[in-house]
Amino acid sequence: MKVWFNGKIKNIEDASKEGIGFLTHAFNYGTGAFEGIRSYELVNGKVGIFRLKDHIDRLFYSSEYLNITLKYSKKEIIDACKEVVKENNLKNAYIRPIVYYSSQKIGLGNNDEVNIVVFAIPFDKYINKKHAKVMLSSYKRISPLISNPKAKITGHYIISSLATQQAKKHGYDEALMLDLEGRIAEGAGENIAFIKDNEIIFAKSDSILEGITRKTIMEIAEDLDFKVKEENIYPHQLDLFDEAFFMGTAVEIIPISQINNIEYKTKKSETIKRHYLDIVKGKVTRYRKWIEIIN
Ligand SMILES: Cc1ncc(COP(=O)(O)O)c(C=O)c1O
Repeated sequence: MKVWFNGKIKNIEDASKEGIGFLTHAFNYGTGAFEGIRSYELVNGKVGIFRLKDHIDRLFYSSEYLNITLKYSKKEIIDACKEVVKENNLKNAYIRPIVYYSSQKIGLGNNDEVNIVVFAIPFDKYINKKHAKVMLSSYKRISPLISNPKAKITGHYIISSLATQQAKKHGYDEALMLDLEGRIAEGAGENIAFIKDNEIIFAKSDSILEGITRKTIMEIAEDLDFKVKEENIYPHQLDLFDEAFFMGTAVEIIPISQINNIEYKTKKSETIKRHYLDIVKGKVTRYRKWIEIIN
């Protein structure tokens, strides 16, 4: 596998030797900023990356939160994402840029060196089910009182990982977390919305990562005659909705059939899912502006 490492395409083995060791700051303390991006084989046979610029904007935002000023421009990182997909002959892929403190010195304050790597792997479904069975987790989403939930930082994902393990252990497909105020926040790696009649209600909380997919669904909802709103949602309200779905780059759209013992219909969520998949695959002309073609 070829990766882009500090400006150059390298074999993953060589880049790993150079880029990561047991003493690496980010390995010890979770001090990395990262993204999860998807490329798709498009209807015209080309390969395109969905909303790449938005992901790279967020990567820079997250890096700044870690007090990292990148040596590379946004354009260089955008090109690196395209290059790794091309170099590895990938079509439907998951692209992961990570900016991280790479100092080989133990000590929290020893963050004087930074590496950046971009790799890509073949990727199909994140949750390989038609509908997700979801567990309301006992783990809580990080709050702005603790860190910045809008920054995609590796260390923030400890809680998501524990919540996912807990959900799987209890026979569920995914975890749903509340925020510290007890509102429905989001899934372990995806946002959540509910449907009542012809309205999509996005869970509102200052503790969520406001995803690019969430923004996309807000923008395309009108095409399917849905109204949209954001609202604080509490667990006792969960059985007021007709449907629920998760959204995120990895999970795309997945209808939720169940949260704990509350069951949901899935028909409208399936329509949203189909429309989203048509868009990312370049089938809807007016949204091709979101697709960065790899030549
Ligand atoms: C915690 C969390 N929430 C939401 C999302 C969805 O974000 P996006 O749609 O930008 O992929 C992600 C994925 O990055 C995530 O990790």
